[in-house]
Amino acid sequence: MSTNPLIKIEDLHTFFYSKAKQAFIRAVDGISMEVPRGKTLGIVGESGSGKSITMMSVLGLISAGPGVIRGKVIYDNGRIKKNLLQGLDDFVDLQEHDGTIMQVDKDLYGWQQHSEQLMKNIRGNEISIIFQNPKAAFNPFTVIGEQIAEMVLLHTRINDPVAAKAKALYWLERVKMDAPEVRYYNYPGALSGGMAQRAMVAMALASEPALLIADEPTTGLDATIQAKVLQLLAEIKADLGITIMIISHDIGVISSLSDYVAVMYGGTVLEYGSAKDVLSTAYEKKHPYAKALLASIPGLENIEKNGARLKAIKGEVLDTIRVVEGCKFASRCDCMTDSVKHKCNTQQPPLEDIGGGHKIRCWLYQ
Ligand SMILES: Nc1ncnc2c1ncn2[C@@H]1O[C@H](COP(=O)(O)OP(=O)(O)OP(=O)(O)O)[C@@H](O)[C@H]1O
Ligand SMILES: [Mg+2]
Repeated sequence: MSTNPLIKIEDLHTFFYSKAKQAFIRAVDGISMEVPRGKTLGIVGESGSGKSITMMSVLGLISAGPGVIRGKVIYDNGRIKKNLLQGLDDFVDLQEHDGTIMQVDKDLYGWQQHSEQLMKNIRGNEISIIFQNPKAAFNPFTVIGEQIAEMVLLHTRINDPVAAKAKALYWLERVKMDAPEVRYYNYPGALSGGMAQRAMVAMALASEPALLIADEPTTGLDATIQAKVLQLLAEIKADLGITIMIISHDIGVISSLSDYVAVMYGGTVLEYGSAKDVLSTAYEKKHPYAKALLASIPGLENIEKNGARLKAIKGEVLDTIRVVEGCKFASRCDCMTDSVKHKCNTQQPPLEDIGGGHKIRCWLYQ
């Protein structure tokens, strides 16, 4: 079997028009990362850093017109290999001046048709998603068991309703729902937050996807339930060997599940590597932003027990209308030395491998 990563994102850009700002926002601006098969990639970063938009771009779910997605998302499961963004560019004409997007002409209908075509047999089949708000994932008027059984019928080889029901019960059991036989007939509204989250995981797994994307799967749950959902995801990962992309602004959540970690800031990746390298406070080479994120954390053992929120870092997140000259983090960085200062303010550093696949976008280490 091929050892290529299951998902490889290359130079992804996602732009939106913001009515509030009366300008195009560069929400994701040149992201590259990959998720090896059977591994978990954690994406961490402050609110607004582009985590959700990255995930939605991967799934072709950017419908806000005129949203623009550029770059490559190579999906390769050994049988199917394709760029999930192939040809989308043909439906867009984008005019840029001096790093600012001035105008976008988009054939929205053509784009959507093409995107649906690209995602056919991928979204739902190969890639499932779990969101922060499980209840939004379910139809409120149908019992959860039937919704899970429907996923089985739609996306697996099972086409007999009785077998699909049995499979749905199997998934409810698998995610450790209490009394699956009873829960099968519950409407989404009757479930507690933790139970609804388990039901959504069951529904996501019911299509037997190769990749599970989880966007803030535990945000809003209380600490005990959060720990249980994390444990469930860890078990699923170990038992099913599924590949996971998990997004959170909580380093505790990221560290408890991830094999690889990407630290996002202002629509770019500032640090990427094995969780061991990126999350280690002992590592002397760290992006100053990642260093600041980790500074408030007492130690990885404690994170797993208590969870840890990102420390507030002084300064504002940059607006992302214009391509900035220099490093995006420069205005908030307190590690800048005199020898690199000029470069930091005038040239964006590349995301450079500092050894063993550990990449950092910082002039201090170039
Ligand atoms: N539909 C949209 N139209 C315009 N701008 C958008 C849209 N969706 C997101 N954005 C902008 O894109 C940027 C990235 O948003 P994104 O939701 O990816 O952040 P995030 O890292 O997931 O944050 P959070 O931790 O709060 O979920 C933000 O500046 C946001 O305001
Ligand atoms: Mg988000």
